[in-house]
Amino acid sequence: MNCLQTWPEPIVRVQSLVESGIRKLPNRYIKPPNQRPQTTTLLNPLQEDINIPVISLQDLFTGDESLRKATMASISSACSEWGFFQVVNHGVDPELMKRVRDTWHEFFELPVEAKQLYANSPDTYEGYGSRLGVEKGALLDWSDYFFLHFMPLSLRKQEKWPSIPNSCRTLITEYGNEMVRLCGTLMKILSLNLGLEEDHLQKALGGENNDIGACLRVNFYPKCPQPDLTLGLSSHSDPGGITLLLPDENVPGLQVRRGNNWITVKPVPNSFIVNIGDQIQVLSNAIYKSVEHRVIVNSEKDRVSLALFFNPKSDLIIEPLKQLVTKGRPAMYPAMTFNEYRLYVRMKGPCGKSQLESLKSLRS
Ligand code: OGA
Ligand code: NI
Repeated sequence: MNCLQTWPEPIVRVQSLVESGIRKLPNRYIKPPNQRPQTTTLLNPLQEDINIPVISLQDLFTGDESLRKATMASISSACSEWGFFQVVNHGVDPELMKRVRDTWHEFFELPVEAKQLYANSPDTYEGYGSRLGVEKGALLDWSDYFFLHFMPLSLRKQEKWPSIPNSCRTLITEYGNEMVRLCGTLMKILSLNLGLEEDHLQKALGGENNDIGACLRVNFYPKCPQPDLTLGLSSHSDPGGITLLLPDENVPGLQVRRGNNWITVKPVPNSFIVNIGDQIQVLSNAIYKSVEHRVIVNSEKDRVSLALFFNPKSDLIIEPLKQLVTKGRPAMYPAMTFNEYRLYVRMKGPCGKSQLESLKSLRS
């Protein structure tokens, strides 16, 4: 039987562990000391002042060419130096962002039994889940999630989306459309910044919005009795094109790798966090890099975040764009479909940047 049909062990909801009143973490959630959050942050007290770049998109939408160029230049350096940035004045209604956040908080506050209806399996990951990867005995992360396909339309199955709160399905559609639109804008900017035609990256990912892939993962990080021993989400890079993250404004948690440090992102009000995924690293022949990130948890507050993954059409071959391959800079990655690529993370769960690194060695 295909090992992606079922989970290797019975699924335990992190929410249930919390509700059972445990004071100590089960061993499955205790990370080895070098992966625990404290070890690196304590060594770097100065990092408290650092944040990922914050960029206003306002000037992209107005007429002035020099202001537009300056914004594009900030995005260009954020992409190559950080792989992560926050955007404000992005054109998405803050009211919509708030409603979406509140609705998903409400969903995750429902009793576990009400959500079991949507329990997922690793063949598509769609639905209510509590682990990534299917390796028996693997260490687990301190989070539950909900995963769904928004695009292409052929994979959109509204009946698998939450029906409570009852605004949920229409809200997901409204929000998803806004996210896909904003990703389209960013794809244009990234293309131009790479010296390509503005529609180049979007075409390389599949073309029209209805042909690309867009998935939403809503992460729920319940408060944790021993947050220093575990992670809400282990270190990983996102496998797809780009990610738009709506963070929980009140509860920090996302950390981005910068050299040997982990920088805790401080969300500014009404912002989205944008990050480069592995497929843009491949297409750009590593001019832009996907950057490792992870999530820490705390003992005080639940945290909810929404990650919209803007991905290639799943059966399309992705390889370094020929415009970005030269004699001096040969193609660094082999050609592969996103379906093939994604299998690795679906089997192994989050493991840093080990997948892209291993592909690189195939080339040398
Ligand atoms: C993700 C992710 C970060 C967060 O879902 O891939 O990195 O803050 N989430 O929840
Ligand atoms: Ni991620």
